[in-house]
Amino acid sequence: MSVKPVTITITGAGGQIGYALLFRIASGAMLGAETPVRLHLLEIPQGVRAAEGAALELQDAAFPLLHGVEVYDDPRSAFEGTEIAMLVGARPRTAGMERGDLLAANGGIFGPQGAAINAGAADGVRVVVVGNPANTNALIAASHAPDVPADRFTALTRLDHNRALGQLAATLGARVGSLRDVTIWGNHSATQFPDVSHATVDGEPVPHLLAARLGGVDTAKEWLVDSFIPRVAKRGAEIIEVRGSSSVASAASAAIDHVRDWVHGTTNGWTSAAVVSDGSYGVPEGLVSSFPVESVDGAWRIVQGLEVDAFAEHRISASVAELVEEREAVRALGLI
Ligand code: NAD
Ligand code: LMR
Repeated sequence: MSVKPVTITITGAGGQIGYALLFRIASGAMLGAETPVRLHLLEIPQGVRAAEGAALELQDAAFPLLHGVEVYDDPRSAFEGTEIAMLVGARPRTAGMERGDLLAANGGIFGPQGAAINAGAADGVRVVVVGNPANTNALIAASHAPDVPADRFTALTRLDHNRALGQLAATLGARVGSLRDVTIWGNHSATQFPDVSHATVDGEPVPHLLAARLGGVDTAKEWLVDSFIPRVAKRGAEIIEVRGSSSVASAASAAIDHVRDWVHGTTNGWTSAAVVSDGSYGVPEGLVSSFPVESVDGAWRIVQGLEVDAFAEHRISASVAELVEEREAVRALGLI
């Protein structure tokens, strides 16, 4: 029986992350080896030639799962019938900038794209925003799509989640695959809170393992506060400094993980994604904030009932306060 191809729109497809994403999606890494895909590449006119070049290379790679590639410079056509929208196209920051500094430059992209998704995307469309500042850009897009349920709009914090796994695995001498239940809370920014208080390695609590490895409970706490949290939260800036430009392959890989788990379900505990808040954990309703999430029956569900101690509450509130400020800023700019 032939399976109908899934239509996926990738914005900024002529850019760095676009280039890293397209070939993995076409190979089946995102939706699996049984699911054919049709790719819609959206660019601004200056980026169209680069996207067309990528389309030529996709043809040359002869992926059996790839059932077509179209290049567009018009959001309405690019989102027509789309089932998965990956909103990557936006300017990256450079050294010395915070991601929030991009709001004025990038915010204007996401209203028209939200409206185009509202007008033409398939029922049940799934949207992930990668372009920075990702949480608030997702809020802008969702606010222009009144007919699409808000839970279809998400922003990427899986890269932060994966960075946290990488740091913990290296420090504990553990396999990444043995770690579960790490959480990124809040904004994809330097205020985010990477939280290991519920995390385990092969069932052993990470806080205990860190204390054993680092010479006691106090040393482990110091490491978390002074090394781990800032290292994960500022890893994007570290990559920019070391590479000379912002993360690409790790960002594309995280976006693939996000969509794969959303469609196929989470299997090894929870993960992190920025979703529209329903008020859980005191995060104001409507903000797009990162939470511990599981994907069940094709929908993200915020993991409920976790204990949040005073330290965690303080960190989460600080990041949420920044999201509230960003919402005010885009309101003042007339973007929502
Ligand atoms: P890039 O400059 O290489 O590519 C961006 C592409 O977007 C360009 O080709 C540009 O022409 C295109 N573009 C700009 N406006 C557009 C629009 N309105 N419609 C369609 N395309 C448009 O940048 P990159 O390295 O691919 O990064 C893209 C974005 O992703 C940046 O904002 C970056 O900060 C962000 N990012 C987010 C994460 C995350 O974890 N959320 C990680 C890495 C990068
Ligand atoms: C990242 O986390 O690597 C991206 O958001 C790029 C950046 O500006 O940090």
